[in-house]
Amino acid sequence: MSAANAKQVEYWNGRVGERWARRHLRIDENLQQITPRVLEFAGARVGETALDVGCGAGTTALALAEAVAPGGVTAIDISRPMLEVAKARAVEAEADIAFHLADASDFAFAPSFDLVFSRFGVMFFADPVAAFANLRRALKPGGRLRFVCWRTVAENRWASAPFEAAKHLLPPQEPSDPFAPGPYAFADAARVEKILRDAGFRDVTIAVLDCSFYMGADADEAAQEALNVGPLAYAARDLGDAARAKARDIVAAMMGQFATPAGITPPAACWLVGAES
Ligand SMILES: C[S@@+](CC[C@H](N)C(=O)[O-])C[C@H]1O[C@@H](n2cnc3c(N)ncnc32)[C@H](O)[C@@H]1O
Repeated sequence: MSAANAKQVEYWNGRVGERWARRHLRIDENLQQITPRVLEFAGARVGETALDVGCGAGTTALALAEAVAPGGVTAIDISRPMLEVAKARAVEAEADIAFHLADASDFAFAPSFDLVFSRFGVMFFADPVAAFANLRRALKPGGRLRFVCWRTVAENRWASAPFEAAKHLLPPQEPSDPFAPGPYAFADAARVEKILRDAGFRDVTIAVLDCSFYMGADADEAAQEALNVGPLAYAARDLGDAARAKARDIVAAMMGQFATPAGITPPAACWLVGAES
């Protein structure tokens, strides 16, 4: 593993990784609009070989395995708790998936994949150019890269609206480097394009994906969810019970603006990123 990614290894194997592993079905509900769009964009075909980078609890690896069978899928992640869930699900589904608990930025892949794919798993590399150069080497000649990542946190109202509503209850937040490894590190499309070109990819395409993020059936459930996932959840992680309850009430009061017949579904803003090896 690259020592430069040690902080991410610690993060995804600690409280956060455990919580993601426990809540993986809920995360799939959150992302129910996004997942089919990125899988369609990836266009996995029967007989292909695919690599799922930062595969988490395995939802997209399983979907890819179904799409490429009898081809095969390899899935890699640094998070032991999430990978354990993914492995158990693959056994249950009798899916042909090879798992690696390893850092995708420097893992010695054979150049064997038609598709390198990720759902929100490639924004965490300390050295993104080196990491994507390594992922490019994993592709066969003519292979493709396809992933989805977040645009700015401001455009992602599911993330920014709860945070803004409860900001006055939170401890002072350190100003953060917008390009530091993290969920919004790829918000700047020009930067993403340069990273991929510098890593040796060609024909880079970056397309807007505007959809929504499912927060819950009603405002109370959505407010609870905002304390489980996204920037408010992170900033409120050490709040006491009284302040958490207050934050939940304030967030619930503003969630009504995002109500639809399908539940509370604030806007989600993503990039669909493609490139050729
Ligand atoms: C936001 S989660 C997304 C997980 C999964 N793709 C999903 O959509 O549910 C990011 C994932 O990337 C993984 N990750 C972060 N850095 C990584 C690295 N250098 N190599 C492999 N996986 C990494 C994390 O452990 C985590 O599972």
